[in-house]
Parts: sequence; structure tokens; C-alpha cells
Amino acid sequence: MEITTVDRGDDALVAQLYDVCRSSDAVSRVDQFDYTPEEYAANLRWSFPGEHDVLLAARDGGTVLGYAQVWFPERDNLDKSWFELFVHPEHRRQGVGSALVERVERVVRDEGRSLALPEAFVPPGHRDDAPAARFAARHGYEVADTEVVRSLRLPVDAAVLDRFEASAREAMGEAYRLEVHRGGVPEPQRAGLCAVSNRLALDAPSGDIEFEAESMTPDDYRQLLEHERSLQRERLTALAIEVATGDVVAYTDLVLPHGDPTFVFQWGTLVMPEHRGHRLGMAVKVANLRALAGLDPARRTVRTMNAEDNPWMVGINVDLGFEVVEEALMLRKDL
Ligand SMILES: CC(C)(COP(=O)(O)OP(=O)(O)OC[C@H]1O[C@@H](n2cnc3c(N)ncnc32)[C@H](O)[C@@H]1OP(=O)(O)O)[C@@H](O)C(=O)NCCC(=O)NCCS
Repeated sequence: MEITTVDRGDDALVAQLYDVCRSSDAVSRVDQFDYTPEEYAANLRWSFPGEHDVLLAARDGGTVLGYAQVWFPERDNLDKSWFELFVHPEHRRQGVGSALVERVERVVRDEGRSLALPEAFVPPGHRDDAPAARFAARHGYEVADTEVVRSLRLPVDAAVLDRFEASAREAMGEAYRLEVHRGGVPEPQRAGLCAVSNRLALDAPSGDIEFEAESMTPDDYRQLLEHERSLQRERLTALAIEVATGDVVAYTDLVLPHGDPTFVFQWGTLVMPEHRGHRLGMAVKVANLRALAGLDPARRTVRTMNAEDNPWMVGINVDLGFEVVEEALMLRKDL
């Protein structure tokens, strides 16, 4: 077996990575969503502005046994790196994962980073005995935080949406208005949206790991929207605007992948600290779910993930009907 960096222009190799990823998810993840080889390849070939990544494959002759991808933020959180690692189910328990981790750690050290942060998904109730948990412990990774993955079945009961919309409107009063945008927010709102979403890493509970705010700019956001358009992804963003100032004070994003016509990602949600306590989190979520039902009523599931010690966000999700499907161990190793 040899470990080499991957030439992402090599279509046959990228097709093998797709197969490893899909086959791994099929046995190791609970109820995964679908994605096409084209979506997978486009994501692998795209980098979010302000970060770079290294892709390593473990191969035996022409066969890919497993691979790892390591990300390095370039403008903030400069001590950190993130990585994912997949071993094809037919080649597990033969040291492939261990060889990849060893190489990943070397790359992380060579990049001058001191913290490696992978995440491992496990079925509920298997935080200690799932293969990924055992593997991580064996390699000296500690659980810094545990996140819970939840799903919401669509359509949401209209009475539930009506009830929470009414209570949110009462708490918001006349001080805020709501907007929902498709395909990204308009130009004038982009700086405000970036400021709010950059706080997410800082404000969302993250256990033993201290994150700095992120640095997305309106130009980065424009590039992200272009990338999503090329993938035929839809994005719905609900904003709460403070009427007195016109400032964006809360947002939430739903993303509809093209490759799985029934699935929706619930991504970031944040209310600026000085505007918390007015049910704006619930207000933007309900507004976005209503827009989703209008845009694409064939979608069946919304998937989200929250730290288990984030009662504010989890409370909103549970009220809306989200149910636990999986857990994610947020792992850390100091290198
Ligand atoms: C976790 C994963 C990467 C392990 O890959 P692998 O090639 O099978 O790992 P290795 O053969 O190097 O295993 C090293 C050690 O990890 C532990 N381990 C790995 N799989 C295990 C399992 N199914 N049960 C118990 N322990 C296990 C053992 O201690 C093993 O050593 P041993 O075989 O000498 O007992 C693989 O199962 C996988 O791709 N899972 C899905 C994606 C994922 O969870 N990635 C990891 C995120 S940290």
C-alpha cells in the first residue's frame, strides 16, 4: 500500500474516491443523503476562498483502499486543521485508516498547525463502541464535544408552524421584519449576512475547542453562490432585520441538493447577541420552512446538527419536530 496526494484532474481516480465515500457511508452512517458523482467531483475540485486542503489516497496498485482530506483555514483559526477519513468497507481492519491518520498528522505538523479536528459519526447510544470511536481513541483523539444530528419530516404540521409563528411574532413586536431570499441574499444585505454568519463559530457551543470568528467576505459569499449554482443547488436564507437600523440581526439557511430531491440541509442559524430573547431564531426558521414548502413540496427531510449543550437551538428544533438520527463526536488531538 502507498499513500500519495491525489491529482483531482484524474477522473478515474476521483470516481474511485466517490465509490469509497459512498460505500463507507452506506455501512457507517445512519440514513445518509444521496449525491451524484458529478456533485462529488465538483465539490472535491472547489475550495472555499480563504482555505486550502490536501487530499491523500491509500492505494494498492490501481485500487483506492481509503482516502483522507485535510482542510486548513488561512485567515482565522490558524492553529487548526479539519479532516475526514474514509476506508472502503472491504479493506477495513488492515491498517489503512491508521496509515492515513499517520500521514494526515505529518501534513498537519508540516503546515505548522497544532490541532487536528476530525469528526466521527456514530449511531445514537454508540459513543464508545462504534468502530470510528474505537479507532479515534486508539489514535489518541479525545472527544471535545458531542453534536446530535436530527431530522425533521416534511411537510411540517401546519398547526405547529402557525403556533410558533404567532408566538415569535408577538415576541418580535414591530422592532424587526423578516425576509426570505432564494439563491443568496441581495447585494446590500451581504456584508450584514457575513458579519452575522462569521460569528457562528465563535458563539455556537463547541466544548473544549475555542474557535475564532470566521472571515467570510461578500466576495467569498458571491463565489460560494456561484459554486452552488453550478451544482444546481437551491439555497433559502431567512433574515431578521432590525427596523430602526436596517441591520441584519439574525439568519438561517436551508440548502437543497440537486442529487437528492427529497433531502434538505439546515445549515447555520444565528441571532446577534444583543438581539437574543425575542424569538428571532424561531421566527427565521419558521419563515424559511414556509418558503421551502412553497419552493419544493417534494422535499421530505430536513437534517441539522447541534452541540448537545446548546439548549437554545436544540429547543427550537425539538419544538418544530426534529428527531434524533445520529451523533457526531467532535474529536481533537494536539500535535
Ligand atoms: C474508522 C475507520 C477510518 C477505520 O479504518 P480501518 O482501516 O479499518 O482502521 P485500522 O485497520 O487502521 O484500525 C486501527 C485500530 O482502530 C480500532 N478499530 C478500527 N475499526 C474497529 C472496529 N470495527 N471495532 C473495534 N475497533 C476498531 C482498532 O483498535 C484497530 O486496531 P486493530 O485492528 O489492531 O484492533 C473506518 O472504519 C471508516 O472509514 N469509518 C467510516 C468513516 C469514519 O468514521 N472516519 C473516521 C473519523 S475519525
